[in-house]
Amino acid sequence: MAKLIYSAITSLDGYIADEDGNFDWAVPDEEVHAFINDLDRPLGTYLYGRRMYETMVGWETDHTLAEQSPVMRDFAQIWQAAEKIVYSRTLEAVSTARTRIERDFEPDAVRQMKASAQRDMIVGGADLAAHAFRARLVDECHLFVVPIVVGGGKRSLPDDVRVELELLDERRFGGGVVYLHYRTRT
Ligand SMILES: NC(=O)c1ccc[n+]([C@@H]2O[C@H](COP(=O)([O-])OP(=O)(O)OC[C@H]3O[C@@H](n4cnc5c(N)ncnc54)[C@H](OP(=O)(O)O)[C@@H]3O)[C@@H](O)[C@H]2O)c1
Repeated sequence: MAKLIYSAITSLDGYIADEDGNFDWAVPDEEVHAFINDLDRPLGTYLYGRRMYETMVGWETDHTLAEQSPVMRDFAQIWQAAEKIVYSRTLEAVSTARTRIERDFEPDAVRQMKASAQRDMIVGGADLAAHAFRARLVDECHLFVVPIVVGGGKRSLPDDVRVELELLDERRFGGGVVYLHYRTRT
């Protein structure tokens, strides 16, 4: 059975984007990016909310991204090789390969995907992930805590759920980011 992992780069006060929608402070440096590459390499599928998909699509459509460094080229290849499911009621078409649109986040369908998948899956975009948390579908969290307080914006974790967690691993990076790897307790 595959695991569903919520992965997010968050401010210390728990936001993935600030009140103006900016998340430039969350852009990983080379060390963090290389670590994320290794976490994402074995994954099979990204489950994206439409907004997160729109910020990630450049990894396939904007070749200047991959040209910026070997680490970014590596991530572009990992991203392009994975399956993507985009949850959206408004998106009419996708511009990347191995990508399909789902109109509804149906917990039973995701549960079946987890049961049949060979490789773990990531859920991304806080709004979409909130549905997965509420349905008790999230098995693990990969949180990268950036040393910044942004004061408000898009919460990285939903307000209306209680989830007990077990810390599996942690790591500190030179730039001050801390990685926290949790398993959800059932
Ligand atoms: N911290 C970082 O490293 C980082 C990196 C990239 C981006 N970001 C930020 O994070 C934001 C993305 O997270 P988010 O929470 O705002 O949005 P999100 O979860 O990525 O996307 C929300 C959208 O997903 C669709 N959706 C959600 N629930 C659905 C459901 N049950 N059924 C069908 N469709 C559903 C809807 O699309 P429709 O409106 O099309 O129906 C909804 O508007 C970006 O906008 C960006 O600001 C942060």
